Amino acid sequence: MSVRFGVLFVLVFIHVLLTSGQNQDIVYLQALMDNLENTPPNWVGSDPCLDKWDGITCTDSRVTSITLSSIGLSGELSGDIGQLSELQTLDLSYNKGLTGSLTPDIGNLKKLSNLILVGCGFNGPLPETLGSLTQLGYLALNSNGFSGPIPASIGNLSKLYWLDLADNKLSGPIPVSNGPTPGLDLLVNTKHFHFGKNRLSGEIPSRLFSSKMTLKHVLFEDNLFKGKIPLTLGLVQNLEVLRLDRNSLSGEVPSNINNLTSINQLFLSNNNFDGPLPNLTGLTILNYLDISNNTFKPSEIPPWLSSLQSLTTLMMQDTGLRGAVPTELFSISQIETVVLRNNELNGTLDFGDTYSNRLHLIDMTSNLISGFTQRGSRYSANLILISNPICTEGITAPYCNPPTDSNSTYSTPPENCFPSTCTSNQVSSPNCKCSYPYTGTLTFRAPSFSDLGNSTIYTSLRSTMMKSFESNQLPVDSVSLSQPTKDSNDYLVINLDIFPSGGERFNRSGISQIGFVLSNQTYKPPHTFGPYFFIGHNYDFFADASNRRHKSISIGLIIGVVAGGCVLLLLLIVSGVYAFCQKGKAERATKKNTPFASWDPDKGGGDCPQLKGARSFTFDELKACTNNFSVATNIGSGGYGMVYRGTLPNKQLVAIKRAQLRSTQGGLEFKTEIELLSRVHHKNVVGLVGFCFDEGEQMLVYEYVVNGTLKDSLSGRSGIRLDWMRRLKIILGAARGLQYLHDLADPPIIHRDVKTTNILLDERLNAKVADFGLSKPLGDADRTHVTTQVKGTMGYMDPEYYMTQQLTEKSDVYSFGIVMLELITARNPIEKGKYIVREVKENMDKRKDLYNLREVLDPTIGLTNELQGLEKFVDIALRCVEDTGHQRPRMSEVVKEIENIMELAGFNPNAESASTSESYEGKSNDRGHPYLKDSLFSYSGGLLDSNLEAK
Ligand SMILES: *[C@@H]1O[C@H](CO)[C@@H](O)[C@H](O)[C@H]1NC(C)=O
Ligand SMILES: *[C@@H]1O[C@H](CO)[C@@H](O)[C@H](O)[C@H]1NC(C)=O
Ligand SMILES: *[C@@H]1O[C@H](CO)[C@@H](O)[C@H](O)[C@H]1NC(C)=O
Ligand SMILES: *[C@@H]1O[C@H](CO)[C@@H](O)[C@H](O)[C@H]1NC(C)=O
Ligand SMILES: *[C@@H]1O[C@H](CO)[C@@H](O)[C@H](O)[C@H]1NC(C)=O
Repeated sequence: MSVRFGVLFVLVFIHVLLTSGQNQDIVYLQALMDNLENTPPNWVGSDPCLDKWDGITCTDSRVTSITLSSIGLSGELSGDIGQLSELQTLDLSYNKGLTGSLTPDIGNLKKLSNLILVGCGFNGPLPETLGSLTQLGYLALNSNGFSGPIPASIGNLSKLYWLDLADNKLSGPIPVSNGPTPGLDLLVNTKHFHFGKNRLSGEIPSRLFSSKMTLKHVLFEDNLFKGKIPLTLGLVQNLEVLRLDRNSLSGEVPSNINNLTSINQLFLSNNNFDGPLPNLTGLTILNYLDISNNTFKPSEIPPWLSSLQSLTTLMMQDTGLRGAVPTELFSISQIETVVLRNNELNGTLDFGDTYSNRLHLIDMTSNLISGFTQRGSRYSANLILISNPICTEGITAPYCNPPTDSNSTYSTPPENCFPSTCTSNQVSSPNCKCSYPYTGTLTFRAPSFSDLGNSTIYTSLRSTMMKSFESNQLPVDSVSLSQPTKDSNDYLVINLDIFPSGGERFNRSGISQIGFVLSNQTYKPPHTFGPYFFIGHNYDFFADASNRRHKSISIGLIIGVVAGGCVLLLLLIVSGVYAFCQKGKAERATKKNTPFASWDPDKGGGDCPQLKGARSFTFDELKACTNNFSVATNIGSGGYGMVYRGTLPNKQLVAIKRAQLRSTQGGLEFKTEIELLSRVHHKNVVGLVGFCFDEGEQMLVYEYVVNGTLKDSLSGRSGIRLDWMRRLKIILGAARGLQYLHDLADPPIIHRDVKTTNILLDERLNAKVADFGLSKPLGDADRTHVTTQVKGTMGYMDPEYYMTQQLTEKSDVYSFGIVMLELITARNPIEKGKYIVREVKENMDKRKDLYNLREVLDPTIGLTNELQGLEKFVDIALRCVEDTGHQRPRMSEVVKEIENIMELAGFNPNAESASTSESYEGKSNDRGHPYLKDSLFSYSGGLLDSNLEAK
C-alpha cells in the first residue's frame, strides 16, 4: 500500500511538473488523502477540476472550494491543506471521524472566506494562525472537542461575520485587545458570538463591548463566567438574542439592559444575580424571558411585565416573587408559558375573562396560592398548583395532580397518501416513497416560542427549508421533522429527515451540497426560531461500490511520464526521498485504521476480536469460493450490499454478505458487530460462520439456509406447502429464536426488524431468525430500554416504539404478533391500504367457530376441522399487538403458549421432524394444492437481507 502510494506520488509529481504547473493542487490533495479514509471514490485521476471530483469546485483550474459533509471521512487533516492556496471555502462538517488538532498550516490559506468544521472530532488547541485568515467571513468550529483558550488573533479578522465556537472544551477568559495584542473587541463587523457550552471563565471583559459593535447574537450560556455583567453591554444596540444563563454571574443586572430595545430573547437564568429585578420596560418586542434561579431581592410581580405584549414565555422560577399574581399577565396576547415555580405568590389565582387562547402551560408549583377562580369557558392550558395551600386539603382537582406528559410527539404526517412498506433502511417520505433519507438534528439555541405542540411552526420550518433547497437546486424531494424536544440547555432539538428526489438515494455531491446549505446558514429559518445549527449523521447509503484508492492511474498520466523520459531519473531521485518520508506516515496511518492489523488469528491475543466459533477469511479465500463474486453466485442485493452463495473448501454452503462500501462502518464497529454475532448460537438463529476484514472489504459469512424465507413460502413463491402443523412448527422455532436473543444471548439482543422475510427455513423447515443488521445489544446501564433512531419495517413496526423511540424487546413481540397473523392469513401486513390487525379484528366473532375468520385465512392452510387451536393462536397474536408494551407477553410466554397449542392439536412440539420438507410435499399433492413444487432444492438462496430481492 505505502509502496504503491510512493510510486503513485512520484508519477503524479512528475506529471505535474511536465504539465507546467497546471493543477498543482493535485499533489496536495493526494497528500491530504494519504491521511484520510473514505474520500470519495471518484477522487482518482490527475485533474480534480476536469475530472469533477465530488465536493471540489475549481476556478481557472485551481481548487477554490472543498465541501464534504456527512460522508464518513476519517483521519487527520494534514498540513498539506495549507498549500491549496486558492481555497476560499472549506467545509468538512459532520465527519465525526476527523480527529487530531487543527493544523497551524491552515493559516496559509490567505483567500479562505468560509471555514466550517461543525460536528467533527477535532481536538487540541485552536491555532493562533487562524488570525492570518484575513478574508475570513464565516468561522464555525462548533461541536468538536477543541480545548485551550480562544486565540486572541481572531480579533484580526476584520471581515468576520459569524463566529461559532460553541460546544467545545474551550477554557480561559475571552481575549480583548491590549496595546498591540488583538482581541475580540476589534470584531466590529461580527454579528454572531456563539460561545455556549464551553468552559470559558473569568469576568466578561468590560472592554469586549462598545457602541461600535454590531452584534445581534451574544450566546455565552453554559460556561464558567463570573463577576458582573459589564455596563458596556448596554451599548450594543443591535442585540436581538442575549444568553448569559448557566454561568456564575453575580451582582445587579445593569439598568441599561433596558436600552437594548431590539432584544427578542433574553436568558439570565441560573446565575447568582442579586439586587432588584431588572426593569425591562423598554424591551417592547421581547418574546422569551428567562430569569429563573437567581437571588433577586423579594418583590411583587412588576406591573410593567404585563405591558410586554410580545411575550410568549415568562420563566421566573425561584426569583423571590411574592404577593398576588396580576390577572393581566394572562391576557398578554401572545403568552404561551408562565413558569413561576418556587416563589411565595399568594392569594386567589384568576385568569380573568380575557386570558390568551395561546396559553399552554402555567406552572405555579410550590407557591402559597389558596384559591382559583375559573370564569367563562374552560381554559385548555396545563395548570399546575401542586404544593400550594389550595392543593393540600385532599383536593383532587386536575391542577393538583402531576400533568400528563406534555412532550410533543410531532412528526410530519404523510401528505394525502398511505405510508409505503419499506425495506429495513429505507423510510417512507411524506410523499410515501421509500428512499434512504439524509438524517440529522436541527438545534435552535433560542427560539422565541415555547409551545412545541403547535404544528404550524413545523409547517413553516419545512416550507422555508424546501424553498431554500429548491432555490439552490438541490436534489430534495421532501423533508420531514419529528420529535421536537427541549434539552437541558433549553435548546429546541428537532430530528430532520431529508428525502432524495429522482431516485432512492443521494450521491456524495448531493449530500455535501445539502450539508453546506445547512452548515453555512444559507438556509435561514423563520425569525421566530432564532439561531440554529445542524448536525448531520453519516450518510451510509451511497450507491457506488467501495473504491480501492490509488488503483487507477490515468492513461494521460502514464503518457506524460513516458514523454518526459529524460528527466525521469532525476525526478525519481528527488521524489523518491519524499515518497520515503510518506511511506512511514502511510504505514502509521494504515495501522491506526485497521483494528485487526496487529491480530494474528493463530496466536490470538491483545486487540483481537473475541470470537466464539467464527473464523476470519481472507478476501482471496472468499473470492475463490464465490468464483470471483460471479453473477451466478449473486443471490440478491440489499441495503448492506450484495449477497453471494459460496462453497467453502470443506463443501459447506455459505451465504456471504459483502458490504457495499468501506465506509459502511468503521473497523471498530465492525469488530463489535462480529463479536456480537459470533456469540449467538441457537438452532433457530442463523449462525455466523466467519467474517472477512481484508483489503478494505467487510463481509459476513453465514450458514446457508436452503429453503428461503417464510414470506416466500407463504406467498407460494418457493413452492413449499405449509399446512397447519408446519406453520405451528415454524412459528414455534421463530419464537424460540427470538426468546433466545432476548433472554439468553449475552448481551441480550433486540432484533428490531422481525418480519417474514427475516425468518428462513432450512431443509427440515426449521425456522431460523436472520438479519441482525439492525440489532442492537442492550447496554448494561440501560437494560430496560434503548433510545434509538426508529428503524424497522412499516407494517411490522411497533407503534409505541415509533412514537417514543424507546426500544424494548416488546417491540419485537409486536412484530412477532404481525408475523403470526401473516402466517395464518398469508396477507401482507398492509395490503391494499388495509392493516392486517384491523382486518382480523373486524372479521372476528369470538362466539363463532374459528372466530368466524375462515374468510381471511390463507385458503391453503388446510381443512377447517384440522385447525385445532387456531382460536388460541389468534388470542396470542392479538395480545402481542396490544398498544402498549406492558400489555404484551414476553417471548418466553409466547413460546409456552405455542407449545400448548401444539400439544392440544396432537403434535409434539419437541419432535425433531425426521422427514424433510420434500416428504411432506408428497402428502399434500393429493389435495390439489395450487403451489406445486417443481424442485425443492432448485431454490436459489438463503436470503439473509431484508432488502433482498431474489434474482
Ligand atoms: C441607556 O440607559 C442609561 C441608564 O439606564 C441612560 O442613562 C442612557 O441615556 C441610555 N442610553 C441610550 C443610548 O439610550
Ligand atoms: C423602568 O424604566 C422606565 C424607562 O425605561 C421608566 O419609565 C420606569 O419608571 C421604570 N420603572 C421602574 C419601576 O423603575
Ligand atoms: C432552576 O433550578 C432547578 C434546580 O437546579 C432546575 O431543576 C430548573 O430547571 C431551573 N429552572 C430553569 C428555568 O432553568
Ligand atoms: C400575600 O403576601 C403579602 C406579603 O408578601 C401580604 O402582604 C398579603 O397580605 C398576602 N395576601 C394574602 C391574601 O395572604
Ligand atoms: C419528555 O421529554 C424529556 C426530554 O426529552 C424527557 O426527559 C422526558 O422523560 C419526557 N417525558 C416523558 C413522560 O416521556
